[in-house]
Amino acid sequence: MNFNEVDVLFAEEEIQEKVAQLGRQITADYKGEDLLVVGILKGAFIFMADLVRKIDIPLELDFMSVSSYGTSTTSSGEVRIMKDLDYSIENKSVLIVEDIVDTGLTLNYICEILKKRDPKSVKICCLLDKPSRRKSPIRPDYVGYSIPDEFVVGYGLDYAGQYRGYPAVCILKPSVYEK
Ligand code: IMP
Repeated sequence: MNFNEVDVLFAEEEIQEKVAQLGRQITADYKGEDLLVVGILKGAFIFMADLVRKIDIPLELDFMSVSSYGTSTTSSGEVRIMKDLDYSIENKSVLIVEDIVDTGLTLNYICEILKKRDPKSVKICCLLDKPSRRKSPIRPDYVGYSIPDEFVVGYGLDYAGQYRGYPAVCILKPSVYEK
């Protein structure tokens, strides 16, 4: 990690404990249900990989990829599906896994689409939540950490395609994106 560019917000070990906690809660809540975990690419890939290994009930996986128009640090709410789900979600308990909920516009759009497909339920699990920036009624059901309005990278999250592989969640120093 390049510490001239980032400050660590949540270290690797701390994140693993939080993910295990979320996994235990989800395991308890979904016992006996047909759980389908839907990861939103690309940001959720690391969180989802860790999370599903902490959920101790049978589950299926699927992925969706969306692109939202906006600047590199904010989304506009105009969303396009780049990759849709491979399978039907009818009568399934769908758990959407997202890296971060910011304005909530992206997830609002995704939830609206998925709810039209007759799932049993649709819930949201995100590692990070920035509630102060919300512009939609989205309220995640499982949240790792609520964070202030800072731009974060690492553990799957990127800035301009970079930093996704950093093992910690880090605050990107404004000097990097204000260049
Ligand atoms: P929303 O539609 O504003 O909630 O945006 C959600 C998406 O914006 C996330 O899935 C991320 O891809 C991206 N995003 C929002 N905040 C951050 C951040 O602090 N770091 C990296 N990506 C972010």
